[in-house]
Amino acid sequence: MNAARSTSGVLRVTTAAAVRARLRKWRAASARIALVPTMGNLHRGHLALIAHAARRAERVAVSLFVNPLQFDRAADLAAYPRTEERDVRLLEEHRVDLAFAPPPPEICPPASSALSAITAGPLAAGLCGAQRRGHFDGVAVIVASLFDLFRPHVAVFGEKDYQQLCIVRDLAARLGARLGYVVDVVAVPTVRASDGLALSSRNAYLTPQQRCGAPALYRNLRWLAARIGEGREDTGALAEQARRRIAAAGLRPEYVEVRHPRTLAPPCPDDKNLIVLAAAWSGKARLIDNVPAHRP
Ligand code: PAF
Repeated sequence: MNAARSTSGVLRVTTAAAVRARLRKWRAASARIALVPTMGNLHRGHLALIAHAARRAERVAVSLFVNPLQFDRAADLAAYPRTEERDVRLLEEHRVDLAFAPPPPEICPPASSALSAITAGPLAAGLCGAQRRGHFDGVAVIVASLFDLFRPHVAVFGEKDYQQLCIVRDLAARLGARLGYVVDVVAVPTVRASDGLALSSRNAYLTPQQRCGAPALYRNLRWLAARIGEGREDTGALAEQARRRIAAAGLRPEYVEVRHPRTLAPPCPDDKNLIVLAAAWSGKARLIDNVPAHRP
């Protein structure tokens, strides 16, 4: 949909009450509302999500919240880049209507609330979920709180965080069934640097030398997807080979897996469309990426 966009500047708010007041005005005007949840430190990947949101709705809201519930290590939370002034300027330039940058008590549900008991469900069991205990439950609680506050028509997420995307889709369906509202979760393709590295706030942790080696992750996922495309059936052995190639390029792979693109289960022999996913460390940066693969 090509919606009429506002030109009146971004409204910056920090409280749920201020969000509700603005949403009331938008709803009174029957505006379609899109939400782009972020942790700030915006880059071209986020701007692609915002551009997508603007095509789907008359009003675009972006949340800027470094969610403490999804960090498994306190040092990682403390080091996460916070660039709110710059982020709000970017949102202004990109004609976002509302920037919501709450302090934790405004958006983290109290322990007594049903929202705080939300879990990420079985899709969180493997892959990144197996490496980062509690991470996706923390994502699920905050995304559910944001959905509950905004009740957006559309919520936009990047394919780079593929497992997160699957979990959020499932969460939206569960919340819809329980609370009676439907959020259309829209996925946007990963934005990459010219050498293939997926854009991520965590790329800022790479030294110049590590940055040169980092595209090996994407390169080898494409290599693996290409072998599958040629008809190779031994996906486990291929994933192990890709893992060795990534390690030989100087990264420390956590996992390389071939999975079903919706259930994230290991593929059955007759699954044609697959997804290849990996996580690897380079110095202090944990990189994740994924590439679709198609059996002939
Ligand atoms: O993808 C992210 O930036 C975060 O996980 C999200 C979805 C904003 C929840 O905190």
